Amino acid sequence: MFSQLKQKYIKEISQVKNLKELDEIYHKCIGRKGELTNILRSLKDLKEKEQKQKGKLANNLKQEIEILFENKKLKLTNNLPYQQTNWIDVTVPGKLPDQGHLHPITLVQEEIEDIFQSMGFSVLDGPEMETEHYNFDALNIPKNHPARDLWDTFWLKNINLLLRTHTSPMQVRYMEKNQPPLRIIVPGRCFRHEATDASHETTFHQIEGLMIGQNISMANLKGVLEGFMKRFYGPQVKLRWQPSYFPFTEPGLELLMGCSICGGKGCSTCGQSGWIEVIPCGMVHPNVFKAAGYNPNRYQGFAFGMGLDRIAMMKYKIDDIRLFYSNDLRFLNQF
Ligand code: DAH
Repeated sequence: MFSQLKQKYIKEISQVKNLKELDEIYHKCIGRKGELTNILRSLKDLKEKEQKQKGKLANNLKQEIEILFENKKLKLTNNLPYQQTNWIDVTVPGKLPDQGHLHPITLVQEEIEDIFQSMGFSVLDGPEMETEHYNFDALNIPKNHPARDLWDTFWLKNINLLLRTHTSPMQVRYMEKNQPPLRIIVPGRCFRHEATDASHETTFHQIEGLMIGQNISMANLKGVLEGFMKRFYGPQVKLRWQPSYFPFTEPGLELLMGCSICGGKGCSTCGQSGWIEVIPCGMVHPNVFKAAGYNPNRYQGFAFGMGLDRIAMMKYKIDDIRLFYSNDLRFLNQF
């Protein structure tokens, strides 16, 4: 009986073509309700002598058949790609761990800092919560001045502070504590109580700049800012100046660049004009010097406050500012 069974399974196993079939036969033979399992189970009803004798034969057979199964399994799995087997192929290249990297705004900020540092500017930080005095009054924007409407403000309840609407308050804070000649830039987050769209966010970034001395003129302003733009965007960048107005400058100016998104043809980002305003700036207003305790007849200089987000949008050709804060990995992983 045992040798018959053995022959039967040798034959069946040899004809098996895949792991699934092999598994089926395995269950038919030595699974929980398998043929051989049943035989082994039935041994307990035999007399002791017979039980011993047959038990030995049955167990030997079981071992032999298990080896047959094992060998067949090896044969079948060797022909399979490693993912479908239990084998681990140690030569397959490992999976690299995900690596973090800096946010595009940080990358651009660091590059801008490098350029200005090479021109002798120091890099400073300022508070994100400000007083009305530094954010407005000291910058020649008194209460009830219509220009205050240019900066929709988040006022902080009960503590008489606000979230700074620009980095310009640091001009006065720095001048109060330092004497000319001076050259600083102040990168930082700013906040405006506005509806968001492709070019407006409630939280954004600026880099303020200030250069003061006894002989600092518009020529310096032009030289520094055009020099910066050419180094940051490359010498081919198209630049244009136009007059502007800010309460804390006299005169006020705006530096524009050719829109990089449409190449100057006109698109929704540049309002179809082909130009983007990138650096609002001007000569520091005498009233700002007075608020900081400087003698406006002795010193003069220029200031600027560029929107970091817009500078980054032009560099990477991004047409929606909200992408920076969306935390969408499909966007972030490109940098
Ligand atoms: N603070 C201005 C704003 O947020 C930008 C600005 C304009 C800053 C002219 C300056 C400046 O320092 O001179 O709109």
